[in-house]
Amino acid sequence: MILAIESTCDETGAGVVKRGGDGVEVLANVKASSEELHTKYGGIVPEVAAREQIKVVLAVIEEAMKKAEVKKDQIEKVAVSFGPGLMGSLLIGVETAKSLAWVWEKELLAVNHMKGHVLANWIVDGDKWRAPLLPALAVVVSGGHSDLIWVEDLQKWEKLGGTVDDAAGECFDKSARALGLGYPGGPAIEKEADKVDSGGEFKLPRPMIDQDNLKISFSGLKTAVVRGVEKAGKLDSERRSQLAWEVNEAIVEVLIKKSEKVMKEKEPKTILLAGGVAANKRLRKEMGKLAEKWGVEFRVPNFKYCTDNAAMIGAAGALGVYTEGSWKQRPKVNLATTE
Ligand code: KG4
Ligand code: ZN
Repeated sequence: MILAIESTCDETGAGVVKRGGDGVEVLANVKASSEELHTKYGGIVPEVAAREQIKVVLAVIEEAMKKAEVKKDQIEKVAVSFGPGLMGSLLIGVETAKSLAWVWEKELLAVNHMKGHVLANWIVDGDKWRAPLLPALAVVVSGGHSDLIWVEDLQKWEKLGGTVDDAAGECFDKSARALGLGYPGGPAIEKEADKVDSGGEFKLPRPMIDQDNLKISFSGLKTAVVRGVEKAGKLDSERRSQLAWEVNEAIVEVLIKKSEKVMKEKEPKTILLAGGVAANKRLRKEMGKLAEKWGVEFRVPNFKYCTDNAAMIGAAGALGVYTEGSWKQRPKVNLATTE
C-alpha cells in the first residue's frame, strides 16, 4: 500500500495505490488545482501555484486516505514526485512526503515525474487489462517535455530524442493564448478545433519534420501562430477554429512523424503514449494508427491519468521504478542545542 504525492506543477495530488498482478490498482486519486487562478494570467505563475499548494497539501492527502479507507498504519511506503518540475511546487510535495515518511517511519520513494507519466499505462483498467509488452517506445508529451524514450525494461530507460526548444504542451498553451482561448491551452485548442474539419486557408510550419533525426522543435510553430493571428487581424469564429485545427494538426503530425522514425530504426512491441498532451483525441487516434501500421500494441492511459496525478507516481513506486528517498541522511549542519 503506497501513499503517493504529486506537486510538480500547479496541481497538488495525493493517491493511494497497491500492486495488483502485473499492474497497479488505484484506491484513491485526489487532486486540487489552482488552474482558475492561472487562467487569469494565461499560464502558470509558479509563485501563485506554490502558495496555493502549501494551503491544500495536507487536506488532499487526508482526503485520499479517507477515500481509500486506509489508516496510516496500513500505508507501507510514501512515494513522491521529486522532479522535473517547478522548484517551489516540488518543495512542498517533497518536504511533506519526507515529513510523513519520517514521522510514520515508512520507506520514502523518490519518483521521476516523467517516468510516472509513462507508468500510468500500468494502472489496471478493467477485467481484461494486462501489462504493456516491453520493450516499448514511450512518447511522453506534456507541458514541459516532448520526449521519445526507449523503455527496454522497467529499470532501463533511454532517451532517444525529443524537443530542442518548446514542448508540445507549451506550444498548445502559447498558441491558445495567442488565439484568445483559455488555459490550459491543449483542451481549449482541441475544443475549438472540433468545430471545423480543416485548417481552411491556414498552413502552419512543421519545424524539423523532414530532418533525418529525432529532434523535435515547436518554437517556430508557436511563433508562426502568433504571427498568423497578427496577420489575420480580427479573427471571426470560424477562422479562429480553423487556426486552432491547424495548430492541433501540426503538433500531431510532427509527433507522429518523429515516432515513426523510431519505428523504422527499432523494434518495440508497444507504443506507450503519456503525459498531459496524451489526452488529445487526435494524437491518440493517429498514434494508434501508427502502432497498427507497424503491427505493435498501442497503449495510452485513461484520460484522468494523462494529466498530472498522484496515482501514476504511486504506480511507479509500486512497480519499483524509484530511487530511495533520503530523509535518513541528515545534512551536515551545526545543530545548536539548549540543554
Ligand atoms: O502532464 P501535464 O499535466 O503537466 C506537465 O507535466 O507539464 O501536461 C500539461 C499539458 C498542458 O500544456 C496542457 O495544455 C496539455 O498538457 N494538455 C493537452 C490536452 N489536455 C492537456 N494538450 C492537448 N490536448 C489535450 N486534450
Ligand atoms: Zn506532468
